Amino acid sequence: MSNVVVFGNQKGGVGKSTLSVLYAMWLADAHRQSVCFIDLDTQGNGSKTLRAFSVGVQASSLFVPGTDASKIGRGDHRERQVALVTASKQLADVELAKPDVVIPAFRTAVRALEGRFDTVVIDTPPALGLRMSAALIAATHVVCPIELEEYSIDGVTDMLKTVFGVRQRYNPRLELAGIVLNRFNAHSARQKAAVQQLVASYRDFVIPARISTRSAIPEALAEGKAVWELSKSSAREASLEVKEAFAVLQQRIQLQPIASAEGVSA
Ligand SMILES: Nc1ncnc2c1ncn2[C@@H]1O[C@H](COP(=O)(O)OP(=O)(O)OP(=O)(O)O)[C@@H](O)[C@H]1O
Ligand SMILES: [Mg+2]
Repeated sequence: MSNVVVFGNQKGGVGKSTLSVLYAMWLADAHRQSVCFIDLDTQGNGSKTLRAFSVGVQASSLFVPGTDASKIGRGDHRERQVALVTASKQLADVELAKPDVVIPAFRTAVRALEGRFDTVVIDTPPALGLRMSAALIAATHVVCPIELEEYSIDGVTDMLKTVFGVRQRYNPRLELAGIVLNRFNAHSARQKAAVQQLVASYRDFVIPARISTRSAIPEALAEGKAVWELSKSSAREASLEVKEAFAVLQQRIQLQPIASAEGVSA
């Protein structure tokens, strides 16, 4: 069965696009998976990095009833089986559409993609809007990246409430794969305290691997590459951290269902 993995956090700039793009590349490189990457953010950061893998379909079309997503090709990139469904300005219109039209249309489109790809990865905009709801309703797993510098337990709690609310009401197969700590700074006492607080509240959900701030990560993505494709030495440590976090994440995704939402009411 295919996984549909959504990277979501209504907070901006926490690493959703960075980690979702890297995760798609990692599944293709390390696990030889065929991956469909759907970019639901009008900013299109993921689409820029993955532009070589575009299959010429706009993500906004997946919200139109009757769209036949089973025709979306796997792409013809030889080294890496990633198919990019691109972001565009039209995605903003989805927020103004009728939920009972666009949400089932998107779910049907994603179901069709599940039949064609090993994993569907979805990057979302920093808002709890219709696109985020549609993505969670179509998903099997959600990954919640957080940045400790900007840490706010309220933000994480809101996101988890949304996830478990969607699971309870609309999508019983949805699992929280984990909270990923991004841009971690081991020398910051403030961040260490934040981690402790987070673990005290959400022990079962925090991935026990951290990704530090590493300039090699955005540097590689700007070149359309994964950080493990850069040959400089600073990229090596960054790669190890990213791969370690993804390995733990993948293990949890494969071993789901994990602990239920104790302490988080919908
Ligand atoms: N581990 C990291 N090391 C260095 N820079 C990082 C790291 N993670 C993310 N960044 C940078 O931080 C910024 C925000 O990251 P990103 O765009 O992935 O966040 P986002 O959650 O997708 O943001 P938005 O909510 O605006 O979509 C980007 O400039 C990105 O290059
Ligand atoms: Mg983003």
